[in-house]
Amino acid sequence: MSHSTSHTTVTDRPDGARKGFALWLTGLSGAGKSTIAGAVAARLRSEGAAVEVLDGDEVREHLSKGLGFSREDRDINVRRIAYVAKLLCRNGVAVITAAISPYRATREEARREIGDGFIEVYVNASLEECIRRDVKGLYNKAIAGAITSFTGVSDPYEPPTHPEVEVNTERETLEESVEKVLDTLRQRGFLPAAQGASAR
Ligand code: ADX
Repeated sequence: MSHSTSHTTVTDRPDGARKGFALWLTGLSGAGKSTIAGAVAARLRSEGAAVEVLDGDEVREHLSKGLGFSREDRDINVRRIAYVAKLLCRNGVAVITAAISPYRATREEARREIGDGFIEVYVNASLEECIRRDVKGLYNKAIAGAITSFTGVSDPYEPPTHPEVEVNTERETLEESVEKVLDTLRQRGFLPAAQGASAR
Protein backbone atom coordinates (compact mmCIF):
# COMPACT_ATOMS: atom_id res chain seq x y z
CA MET A 1 0.00 0.00 0.00
CA SER A 2 1.32 3.40 -0.93
CA HIS A 3 1.44 6.18 1.61
CA SER A 4 3.39 8.60 -0.52
CA THR A 5 0.54 11.00 -1.23
CA SER A 6 0.94 12.74 2.13
CA HIS A 7 4.25 14.24 0.92
CA THR A 8 3.34 16.63 -1.82
CA THR A 9 6.69 18.36 -2.35
CA VAL A 10 9.09 15.43 -2.33
CA THR A 11 9.12 13.52 -5.59
CA ASP A 12 10.43 10.09 -6.40
CA ARG A 13 11.17 9.06 -2.84
CA PRO A 14 8.12 7.10 -1.71
CA ASP A 15 9.67 5.78 1.50
CA GLY A 16 11.59 8.94 2.27
CA ALA A 17 14.92 7.18 1.67
CA ARG A 18 17.64 9.11 -0.09
CA LYS A 19 18.50 8.07 -3.61
CA GLY A 20 22.24 7.90 -4.09
CA PHE A 21 23.95 9.59 -7.00
CA ALA A 22 27.44 10.26 -8.23
CA LEU A 23 28.35 13.74 -9.38
CA TRP A 24 31.23 13.00 -11.71
CA LEU A 25 33.32 16.17 -11.96
CA THR A 26 35.75 16.24 -14.87
CA GLY A 27 38.05 19.00 -16.04
CA LEU A 28 41.63 20.19 -16.28
CA SER A 29 43.92 20.40 -13.28
CA GLY A 30 43.18 23.74 -11.66
CA ALA A 31 39.77 24.13 -13.30
CA GLY A 32 38.11 24.14 -9.87
CA LYS A 33 36.87 20.57 -9.40
CA SER A 34 37.93 20.27 -5.74
CA THR A 35 36.56 23.70 -4.87
CA ILE A 36 33.19 22.93 -6.40
CA ALA A 37 33.17 19.45 -4.86
CA GLY A 38 33.76 20.95 -1.41
CA ALA A 39 31.11 23.63 -1.80
CA VAL A 40 28.48 21.24 -3.18
CA ALA A 41 29.31 18.74 -0.43
CA ALA A 42 28.75 21.39 2.23
CA ARG A 43 25.37 22.32 0.77
CA LEU A 44 24.25 18.69 0.50
CA ARG A 45 25.34 17.97 4.09
CA SER A 46 23.40 21.00 5.29
CA GLU A 47 20.34 19.46 3.64
CA GLY A 48 20.91 16.22 5.53
CA ALA A 49 22.57 14.05 2.90
CA ALA A 50 25.37 11.57 3.60
CA VAL A 51 28.16 12.82 1.36
CA GLU A 52 31.53 11.39 0.31
CA VAL A 53 34.02 13.21 -1.88
CA LEU A 54 36.48 11.13 -3.88
CA ASP A 55 39.09 13.72 -4.77
CA GLY A 56 41.79 12.89 -7.31
CA ASP A 57 44.70 13.99 -5.17
CA GLU A 58 43.40 12.12 -2.12
CA VAL A 59 42.56 8.96 -4.06
CA ARG A 60 46.08 8.97 -5.46
CA GLU A 61 47.47 9.15 -1.89
CA HIS A 62 45.56 6.05 -0.80
CA LEU A 63 43.52 3.93 -3.19
CA SER A 64 45.76 4.59 -6.20
CA LYS A 65 49.14 5.10 -4.56
CA GLY A 66 51.95 4.25 -6.96
CA LEU A 67 49.97 4.89 -10.13
CA GLY A 68 51.36 7.35 -12.64
CA PHE A 69 49.86 9.34 -15.49
CA SER A 70 50.07 7.05 -18.50
CA ARG A 71 46.73 6.41 -20.15
CA GLU A 72 46.73 2.95 -18.60
CA ASP A 73 47.35 4.24 -15.08
CA ARG A 74 44.81 7.04 -15.39
CA ASP A 75 42.24 4.51 -16.58
CA ILE A 76 42.96 2.22 -13.63
CA ASN A 77 42.63 5.20 -11.31
CA VAL A 78 39.32 6.29 -12.84
CA ARG A 79 37.93 2.74 -12.79
CA ARG A 80 38.76 2.42 -9.09
CA ILE A 81 36.98 5.68 -8.39
CA ALA A 82 33.96 4.49 -10.40
CA TYR A 83 33.88 1.22 -8.47
CA VAL A 84 33.92 2.90 -5.06
CA ALA A 85 31.40 5.49 -6.25
CA LYS A 86 29.07 2.67 -7.33
CA LEU A 87 29.25 0.98 -3.92
CA LEU A 88 28.51 4.20 -2.08
CA CYS A 89 25.89 5.39 -4.53
CA ARG A 90 23.79 2.23 -4.27
CA ASN A 91 23.72 2.71 -0.50
CA GLY A 92 22.15 6.13 -0.74
CA VAL A 93 25.30 8.20 -0.45
CA ALA A 94 25.72 11.44 -2.36
CA VAL A 95 29.08 10.84 -4.02
CA ILE A 96 31.17 13.57 -5.59
CA THR A 97 34.21 12.54 -7.61
CA ALA A 98 36.82 15.08 -8.60
CA ALA A 99 39.48 13.57 -10.85
CA ILE A 100 40.61 14.95 -14.21
CA SER A 101 39.31 11.73 -15.81
CA PRO A 102 40.52 12.93 -19.20
CA TYR A 103 39.30 10.12 -21.42
CA ARG A 104 35.73 10.16 -22.72
CA ALA A 105 35.53 6.40 -23.18
CA THR A 106 36.61 5.74 -19.60
CA ARG A 107 34.08 8.21 -18.23
CA GLU A 108 31.43 6.44 -20.29
CA GLU A 109 32.49 3.18 -18.63
CA ALA A 110 31.94 4.86 -15.27
CA ARG A 111 28.53 6.03 -16.47
CA ARG A 112 27.54 2.48 -17.42
CA GLU A 113 28.86 1.01 -14.18
CA ILE A 114 27.13 3.51 -11.91
CA GLY A 115 23.91 3.64 -13.91
CA ASP A 116 21.06 6.13 -13.39
CA GLY A 117 22.76 8.01 -10.59
CA PHE A 118 25.69 9.07 -12.78
CA ILE A 119 25.72 12.80 -13.38
CA GLU A 120 28.58 14.17 -15.43
CA VAL A 121 29.65 17.68 -14.45
CA TYR A 122 32.03 19.42 -16.82
CA VAL A 123 34.09 21.87 -14.80
CA ASN A 124 35.24 24.12 -17.59
CA ALA A 125 38.04 26.64 -17.45
CA SER A 126 40.29 27.34 -20.40
CA LEU A 127 43.80 25.97 -20.43
CA GLU A 128 45.08 29.56 -20.52
CA GLU A 129 43.17 30.32 -17.32
CA CYS A 130 44.42 27.15 -15.59
CA ILE A 131 47.98 28.06 -16.57
CA ARG A 132 47.43 31.59 -15.27
CA ARG A 133 46.11 30.26 -11.94
CA ASP A 134 48.73 27.50 -11.70
CA VAL A 135 47.60 26.75 -8.15
CA LYS A 136 50.10 23.93 -7.64
CA GLY A 137 52.90 25.29 -9.83
CA LEU A 138 52.68 22.20 -12.03
CA TYR A 139 51.79 23.95 -15.31
CA ASN A 140 55.03 25.92 -15.16
CA LYS A 141 56.96 22.72 -14.69
CA ALA A 142 55.02 20.96 -17.44
CA ILE A 143 55.62 23.79 -19.89
CA ALA A 144 59.31 23.77 -19.00
CA GLY A 145 59.34 20.03 -19.67
CA ALA A 146 60.15 19.08 -16.08
CA ILE A 147 56.86 17.12 -15.87
CA THR A 148 55.92 14.98 -18.86
CA SER A 149 52.45 13.83 -19.98
CA PHE A 150 50.74 16.71 -18.22
CA THR A 151 47.05 17.01 -19.04
CA GLY A 152 46.34 19.89 -21.42
CA VAL A 153 50.03 20.58 -22.05
CA SER A 154 51.55 17.31 -23.18
CA ASP A 155 48.68 14.87 -22.65
CA PRO A 156 45.09 14.87 -23.93
CA TYR A 157 41.93 16.12 -22.27
CA GLU A 158 38.72 15.07 -23.98
CA PRO A 159 35.89 17.38 -22.89
CA PRO A 160 32.45 15.85 -22.39
CA THR A 161 30.15 16.10 -25.39
CA HIS A 162 26.87 15.78 -23.44
CA PRO A 163 27.49 16.47 -19.76
CA GLU A 164 24.39 16.63 -17.55
CA VAL A 165 25.67 20.04 -16.45
CA GLU A 166 28.54 22.33 -17.34
CA VAL A 167 29.93 24.97 -15.05
CA ASN A 168 32.40 27.61 -16.14
CA THR A 169 34.66 28.74 -13.34
CA GLU A 170 36.03 31.64 -15.37
CA ARG A 171 32.66 33.25 -16.02
CA GLU A 172 30.58 32.19 -13.01
CA THR A 173 30.95 32.76 -9.30
CA LEU A 174 31.40 29.69 -7.13
CA GLU A 175 27.87 30.18 -5.81
CA GLU A 176 26.44 30.26 -9.36
CA SER A 177 28.25 27.07 -10.28
CA VAL A 178 27.07 25.34 -7.11
CA GLU A 179 23.46 26.38 -7.81
CA LYS A 180 23.67 24.97 -11.34
CA VAL A 181 24.77 21.62 -9.97
CA LEU A 182 22.07 21.60 -7.27
CA ASP A 183 19.42 22.57 -9.86
CA THR A 184 20.44 19.59 -11.97
CA LEU A 185 20.02 17.32 -8.95
CA ARG A 186 16.57 18.79 -8.26
CA GLN A 187 15.47 18.42 -11.88
CA ARG A 188 16.49 14.78 -11.81
CA GLY A 189 14.67 14.04 -8.57
CA PHE A 190 17.76 13.53 -6.41
CA LEU A 191 16.93 16.50 -4.21
CA PRO A 192 13.56 17.86 -3.08
CA ALA A 193 12.37 20.29 -5.74
CA ALA A 194 11.73 23.59 -4.02
CA GLN A 195 13.60 23.48 -0.74
CA GLY A 196 14.60 26.99 0.29
CA ALA A 197 13.21 28.50 -2.91
CA SER A 198 10.81 30.81 -1.10
CA ALA A 199 13.62 32.26 1.00
CA ARG A 200 15.42 33.74 -2.00
S1 ADX B 1 43.47 11.41 -13.64
O1 ADX B 1 43.92 11.77 -15.01
O2 ADX B 1 43.95 10.09 -13.23
O3 ADX B 1 42.00 11.54 -13.47
P1 ADX B 1 43.86 12.80 -11.14
O4 ADX B 1 42.74 13.75 -11.04
O5 ADX B 1 43.78 11.53 -10.38
O6 ADX B 1 44.15 12.51 -12.71
O7 ADX B 1 45.21 13.52 -10.72
C1 ADX B 1 45.51 14.77 -11.25
C2 ADX B 1 46.39 15.59 -10.31
O8 ADX B 1 47.68 14.98 -10.23
C3 ADX B 1 46.62 16.98 -10.85
O9 ADX B 1 45.69 17.90 -10.32
C4 ADX B 1 48.01 17.29 -10.42
O10 ADX B 1 48.01 17.86 -9.13
C5 ADX B 1 48.70 15.96 -10.33
N1 ADX B 1 49.54 15.59 -11.48
C6 ADX B 1 50.83 15.19 -11.40
N2 ADX B 1 51.30 14.86 -12.61
C7 ADX B 1 50.31 15.05 -13.49
C8 ADX B 1 50.19 14.86 -14.92
N3 ADX B 1 51.22 14.42 -15.65
N4 ADX B 1 49.01 15.14 -15.50
C9 ADX B 1 47.99 15.60 -14.77
N5 ADX B 1 48.03 15.79 -13.43
C10 ADX B 1 49.20 15.51 -12.78
